[in-house]
This record gives sequence, C-alpha cells and structure tokens, in this order.
Amino acid sequence: MKILDGKWVRDQILAELKPRVDAVTAKGRPPGLAVVLVGGDPASEIYVRNKVKACADLGIFSEQIMPPAETTTDQLLEIVASLNARPEIDGILVQMPLPKQIEERKILMAIAPEKDVDGFHPINAGNLMSGNPGPRACTPSGVMEILKRYEIPISGKKAVVVGRSDIVGKPMALLLLHANATVTICHSRTSNLEEECRHADILVAAIGRPAFLRGSFIKPGATVIDVGINRVSDRARAEAIFGSSPAKMAQFEKNGVILVGDVHPLEVDHASAFTPVPGGVGPLTIAMLMANTVSCAEKRCSA
Ligand code: GUN
Repeated sequence: MKILDGKWVRDQILAELKPRVDAVTAKGRPPGLAVVLVGGDPASEIYVRNKVKACADLGIFSEQIMPPAETTTDQLLEIVASLNARPEIDGILVQMPLPKQIEERKILMAIAPEKDVDGFHPINAGNLMSGNPGPRACTPSGVMEILKRYEIPISGKKAVVVGRSDIVGKPMALLLLHANATVTICHSRTSNLEEECRHADILVAAIGRPAFLRGSFIKPGATVIDVGINRVSDRARAEAIFGSSPAKMAQFEKNGVILVGDVHPLEVDHASAFTPVPGGVGPLTIAMLMANTVSCAEKRCSA
C-alpha cells in the first residue's frame, strides 16, 4: 500500500507558483489575498495563520481581517464590499463556518467572482458545473493534484464520493466527472453505504466523522482519499480506534488529542494507495488557495 504524501505534492505546486508570483510582482505589485475570520474560533485561527504564513513564504501580500463574533450580515457585507473595491487585493477568503447570525449565502454572493479564491460564488460553482475556466474549490482541486501527480488513472474508473457539501463533496464529484470517472455521490441518507463504497476504484471520504469508513468499505486495490480532519479528544473514542497501536495511543496520551480522518487509519492495508491524516489532503488546501490567488492576480493584472 502506497502512502500518498501531500507535502510532496504541495512542495511541487508551491515551487511552480514562485516564478508566477515573481512575474506578477515584476509588473507592479505582488498578488494580494485578504482572509476574513469572524470571531476567534481556535481551529480556524490556526488555519488562517497557516494561510498567512504560506503567503509570506511565496511573496504574496496578505491581510488578515478579524471582526468580532457578533458581527452582523450587513457589517460583513460592508467588509466584503471594501475588499472588492481595493485594487491591490486579488483574492478574498471568508473563513467558514460563519457565526449563525450571519447569512452565509449572502456573503458568498457578495464576493466579486473574479476575487473568489474559494470558488464558492454561484457564478464559479456554475463555471465548474459547465466546465468553464474559473477558480475551483481548494480542497477538491488539491485532491485532483494528488491523483494527477501520483499518476493514478481516473478515466473510466468508478469513483465514490462520500459527502455532499458545497465545499468538498459536490465540487469533488464534478471534478472527477470532468476527468471521466463514473461518479457516485453518497451521503448520510444513502442506503447500504458500505456496499456503494466497496465498488469504488477511487474512494473519497468527506463526511467529518472519525474513522467512519472501515476496512470492509474498501475494495482491495482501491485508491483511498481521506479528506476528513477530526480532532478526537475522548479517550474511549481514541482507544476504540487506536487500541491496537501503542504508538498512536502514546501520541494521544502526550497531546490529549489526536487527528483522525474519516477512514479508519488501521484498516487500509488492502488499498493500493491512501492519503494519511495528517499529511495527505490537508497540505494541498493551502497550496491550492495560493494557486487560485496567483491565477486571480494574473487575470486581473492582464485585464
Ligand atoms: N473552512 C473549511 N475549509 C474552508 C475553505 O476551503 N474555505 C473557506 N473559506 N472556509 C473553509
């Protein structure tokens, strides 16, 4: 079983972006990304910090905007409008999830489509649907980069995507479809999920439930892509998953928490390839955000 190393793929992508960042910068100014984080959710803060650091490493200008948790929809719309209007900002990312008083849909609709580095605006969702160019959601396009760079065939293969979110499941299914896979989308109401998954040559798990897909869900020789990043801090739960792995349990004891994907990490030996958690899909999300930011900057600079 081959481990698909997301850091290896990420490093290739970032290395390819560097000269493109330099070329944009030589034309007058570096690409610019604004990251908006409403409220101080600690997990989101880590993501945002990593995004800002990735920008600095590449030479992309970045700005972090952190309005308080009680921000209203109208106030956030104003922030988005001011970022839309600023010429030195090429990409706008509003970190999800938003506090519940904010109407997420209105915010996503307000981001200028040409600055929508998440690919969440309905115009860009439509561009993906119809195969037009445009920014694609970062995590699914990162998965496509892993498959491409490890030369895993997609055309004619049966792909099963577990999860139907707007952020991962739906765009993932469309990208695989455009690459000529035969795609099935499964979700919480799917009857006989296990059987559906067992047909997959490429199985993508994006449901947000730790170790939910067991070994019996995986066809021998399948490629298994685990998009889940679940923090398990309950000892009984950690033991139920990692009881047979002293090394993993030692890691849990040391940190009081352990990251687990949506696929049971000790039951993938019969797969042909697997993205570990952490270190699989995770590193790609930020790399693809950088790629989308650079692409938006190139388009805006030449417009
Ligand atoms: N929250 C989790 N993943 C993402 C993402 O890709 N983009 C945004 N904006 N928020 C997220």
